[in-house]
Amino acid sequence: MKTEHKIYFKNSSDMSEIESNVIDLLITSPPYPMIEMWDKIFFSADNNIKEYIKKGEGLKAFQLMHEELNNTWRESLRVVKKGGIICINIGDSTRKIGNSFQLYPNHVKITNFFQNHDCLVLPIILWRKPTNSPTKFMGSGMLPSNAYITLEHEYILIFRKGEKNRKFKPKSEERYNSAYFWEERNKWFSDEWSDIIGESQTLKNYENLRARSAAFPIEIPYRLINMFSIYGDNILDPFWGTGTTTLAAMISARNSFGYEIEPEFSKVFQNNIKKIKKLTESINKERIKNHLKFIKKYNKNKQVKYTSVNYDFPVVTTQEKDILLSSIKDIKRSDNFYNIEHTKFLYNGKNSKKVHSSLIK
Ligand SMILES: C[S@@+](CC[C@H](N)C(=O)[O-])C[C@H]1O[C@@H](n2cnc3c(N)ncnc32)[C@H](O)[C@@H]1O
Repeated sequence: MKTEHKIYFKNSSDMSEIESNVIDLLITSPPYPMIEMWDKIFFSADNNIKEYIKKGEGLKAFQLMHEELNNTWRESLRVVKKGGIICINIGDSTRKIGNSFQLYPNHVKITNFFQNHDCLVLPIILWRKPTNSPTKFMGSGMLPSNAYITLEHEYILIFRKGEKNRKFKPKSEERYNSAYFWEERNKWFSDEWSDIIGESQTLKNYENLRARSAAFPIEIPYRLINMFSIYGDNILDPFWGTGTTTLAAMISARNSFGYEIEPEFSKVFQNNIKKIKKLTESINKERIKNHLKFIKKYNKNKQVKYTSVNYDFPVVTTQEKDILLSSIKDIKRSDNFYNIEHTKFLYNGKNSKKVHSSLIK
């Protein structure tokens, strides 16, 4: 299988390089309104935002910042297919402007936008991003009643364009090959991802750029891609940053598009892509290792009925029988476009049968 990955360094309020109704899944994390690290971007988009902050009119600045994001959301809805899924990672913000400290609920603004633009709001995921700062608790300290809660969760908001579910061909091979394990379903489709904390390990060499990009951990787009798309689908990230969504799409053999206004972040991506083959292998191995561990425990209580066609290990449900993980065979780059050739992932090479049966006994 082959996939294509295209990155455009420009403002995503215009994504005219993409035709209408071609994106199956959008995954992104925009700059967060009212978080100071993103002020510069919003100020350069609309100078009134800066003026409102200066004058102490926080709510007006907040409103205008969301209007900037809305330009990208509107354009995103043009390119997403009917039935396509939109996943937006966002945190709320707290800030003192003038004399008032208050919460700026970004997740509410974004939810309202999509709800008012022919999308259905679906159940969300929370994940924890702990703050290590010793000054993280604000307000009146140990004395009631003027202290504030510290925000340490982020939201993954999930919407579907249109009212109807996406339709697939009966017994679609791509869909069945893209299935996930039963125990992964139980973890991934829960509303709190407590096992995901902090930021991506893939950015260690670029601390400064990492801090400026606020990259999310690769597990986030990787899971969402596996949950809401199938092999060969088109994934879009309109606030691409360092390209974590593209990396996850490459690992998962989906096509991708990314838009980013800051070309400097491409350095982090160039560094990460060098390790993508290895990263793909280790993610696949980890998933299978965890599955075998799970089966060993599960087998003590219940007999597992089904066998994986491609890997010969037991699986809990018939829907998992055709699971097929993919490896990266070859990457070709031309400017900011990548062509990738994928092949079947082989777990422990040819001896897989022996290894699996010894592990699960
Ligand atoms: C929170 S970061 C995304 C981080 C990304 N998820 C990652 O893992 O690296 C938001 C990104 O959106 C970019 N950005 C902001 N406004 C934009 C716009 N209108 N069009 C394209 N990119 C934009 C910023 O430069 C920043 O890199």
